[in-house]
Amino acid sequence: MELGKLLGCGAYSNVRAMKRKAMKQKAMKRKGSLLLGAIIDEDDTGNVHEPCHSSVSSLSLPVVSSTIPPKLHIATKRSKSSDFSTHVGFFYELALPSTTIATDEESDDSVKYAVKSLRNDLDGETKISGAIDLTIEAQFLLKLSHPNIVKLYGQGGSPGSEDFFIVVARVQGTLSDTIQLFRRLTERLKLNGISQNGNRLSRKEKKAELHSYYGRSLCIGRQLASALHYLHENSILFRDLKPQNIGLDGKSRVKIFDFGLAKELKSESRQGVDQYRGRKDVGTRRYMAPEIYNGSHYGLPADVYSFAIVIWQLFSLTVPFKGHSIDKHVHRTYVRKIRPPIKFKWPRKLKRMLSKGWHHNPSCRPKMNECLSVMEELSRKDGYTEETFFEESRSSFNSY
Ligand SMILES: Nc1ncnc2c1ncn2[C@@H]1O[C@H](COP(=O)(O)OP(=O)(O)OP(=O)(O)O)[C@@H](O)[C@H]1O
Ligand SMILES: [Mg+2]
Repeated sequence: MELGKLLGCGAYSNVRAMKRKAMKQKAMKRKGSLLLGAIIDEDDTGNVHEPCHSSVSSLSLPVVSSTIPPKLHIATKRSKSSDFSTHVGFFYELALPSTTIATDEESDDSVKYAVKSLRNDLDGETKISGAIDLTIEAQFLLKLSHPNIVKLYGQGGSPGSEDFFIVVARVQGTLSDTIQLFRRLTERLKLNGISQNGNRLSRKEKKAELHSYYGRSLCIGRQLASALHYLHENSILFRDLKPQNIGLDGKSRVKIFDFGLAKELKSESRQGVDQYRGRKDVGTRRYMAPEIYNGSHYGLPADVYSFAIVIWQLFSLTVPFKGHSIDKHVHRTYVRKIRPPIKFKWPRKLKRMLSKGWHHNPSCRPKMNECLSVMEELSRKDGYTEETFFEESRSSFNSY
C-alpha cells in the first residue's frame, strides 16, 4: 500500500492519504489464512500485472460477524464493482484474519481514503498507549454506522502493536479549519462588504450573506447533534469532542473521527444515574466537562458539555477560553463556573441549550435527543439546506 501526503498529525498518530492505482479481488490461501483482494497493478488497458509488494502488506479484520453493519452485507453482493467499499464489505462478511486491499486514485487530492497509524517518534510508553487507543478506535468504528461518523474501511497490522493502522474515509478538513475560514470571510464581509466570491455587496446582500453563516452553523450543529445522539443511544461516550476531531467531507457533510478515547458505558461500571467509573482528566481541557476533570463519576452528560462548548465556538467563530493558562482555565471554568459569553441576538432556544448544556451539574444538562430537536427546529425555521451549504462552501473554499 502506498501512502500519500500527510493530512494531519495528532498526539499519537499520523494520518495520510492512501494512494493506489487499482484493486482486484482475489482469493488465495496463505499459511492457513485466506488472503483476499491482493493488490494488483493494472495498466490503462485493464491488463493485470503481478501483485505489487507494499510497505504495509496486509489488512486484517477481527472476527466480527455479529456486529457487521447490514449495509456491508448488501455491498458484498456486487462483487464485480471496483468500489473499494464493496470489497471491504466482503472482507467483513467473511471475517477474515488477513486481507490485502488497494483503492483507486486519480490525484493526491482526490484520494478518498486516509490511513491512520502511530507516529514513529513516540517513546515506549506513549507508543503503547497510542497503539491501544488506535485499536479501541478500530473496534468502535467497526460497530458504528451513521452518516456523520467517519467510515472504517479496513485495518491492518497487529491490533495493539505499533504496526497497527486503520483505513478510514478521508475528510477534506476539520471543523477547526472551517470555523477559521468562516471567521476570516465574515470579518472581510463586515469590514469591506466583500462577499466570499470576492464581489462587493450592497447592504442588503451583505446582510443576507452574513445571515447565511448562521444557516451553515446550524447545518453543522444539527449533523453533529445527530452523530452524538446516535452514539449515546448506543451507550457510547465520545469523550473528546472538539473541532479538531470533527471533519467535513467533500460534500460539506460532518464526520466525527478519532474514537481513541471513546468509552462504552457498561452496566458493571455504573455508579448511579448517568454516572460510571472512568479515568480522570481524559480528553481536551478546553472542552472537558468538570466532572471528568475533577475525577468524579461521569457519563453521557460529559459529551453534552463538550457539545455546548463546540456549538458556542461554531456560532461565535471564536475559540473558547482563548489564552487561558491551565490554572486560569481550571479556576475560572471549574471553580468559578464561568462560561463563554452568549450573544443576546441568538435564538432563545439556542441560548437555553447552551446555558443548560454546559451546566456545572451534569444532571441539569439536556440529553442529546433534546439538543438534536433544538438544532432541527432552528434549521427548519431558517430553511437553510445542506445542499445550499455544499454549494456555498464550495465557492467560499475556492475563492479564499
Ligand atoms: N479521515 C481523515 N481524513 C483526513 N484527515 C484526517 C482524518 N482523520 C484525521 N485527520 C487529520 O489528522 C489529525 C489527527 O487525527 P486524529 O485526531 O484521529 O489523531 P490522534 O492522534 O488520535 O489525535 P489527538 O491529538 O486528538 O489524540 C486530525 O486533526 C486531522 O487533521
Ligand atoms: Mg484527534
